[in-house]
Amino acid sequence: MDSHTHQSHRIKVRSETGTARLAAQLSTLTTPGDILSLWGDLGTGKTSFARAFINSLTDHAEEVPSPTFTLLQLYDTPRGEVYHFDMYRLEAPDDALELGIEDAFVDGICLIEWPDRLGAWLPKNRLDIILQAGDCDNARNVEIIARTPAWNERLAALPPWDTIEDIESDSPEPFAE
Ligand SMILES: Nc1ncnc2c1ncn2[C@@H]1O[C@H](COP(=O)(O)OP(=O)(O)OP(=O)(O)O)[C@@H](O)[C@H]1O
Ligand SMILES: [Mg+2]
Repeated sequence: MDSHTHQSHRIKVRSETGTARLAAQLSTLTTPGDILSLWGDLGTGKTSFARAFINSLTDHAEEVPSPTFTLLQLYDTPRGEVYHFDMYRLEAPDDALELGIEDAFVDGICLIEWPDRLGAWLPKNRLDIILQAGDCDNARNVEIIARTPAWNERLAALPPWDTIEDIESDSPEPFAE
């Protein structure tokens, strides 16, 4: 059994800019070997999050197209290689091996859309980011769940969510999942 407590942060982003600020904050915490899984229905903003995340790490503007058909787009950044996966069209979890997930999970900074498609290949040592529709068109409710003690600590070192423009905290303190 997994003995550590998963800390969950619930926030609201008011706009796409809020999602971008969230992505930029989290990008500053990442190092090679990190896995961020992006959960949420079609159009909730997974690619939009990835685009902001990648652009906050690079010193030049990256286009960051959705990997809908390619399943993987790779970016070289000063923090390390970023693997942006979209597993939506993966037919079977084992097909992901051909994309090089085993190396990516060890050496890369991985952003994974539609992580459920990976089945048992989805690593346990990850940060979950769950995007859901909010109370108006451009708002989103976001839950961030630290699946490792290291992620708990790293999130604790961030400024309070409420101090970031376009972001509201739903719970003043993180709670146990
Ligand atoms: N707060 C927000 N965060 C992110 N995207 C937003 C927000 N408000 C509006 N949007 C819009 O919602 C859409 C999100 O599209 P995006 O491609 O990022 O979704 P997705 O979750 O990757 O979908 P898919 O499952 O098809 O890959 C974009 O058109 C974006 O402009
Ligand atoms: Mg997408």
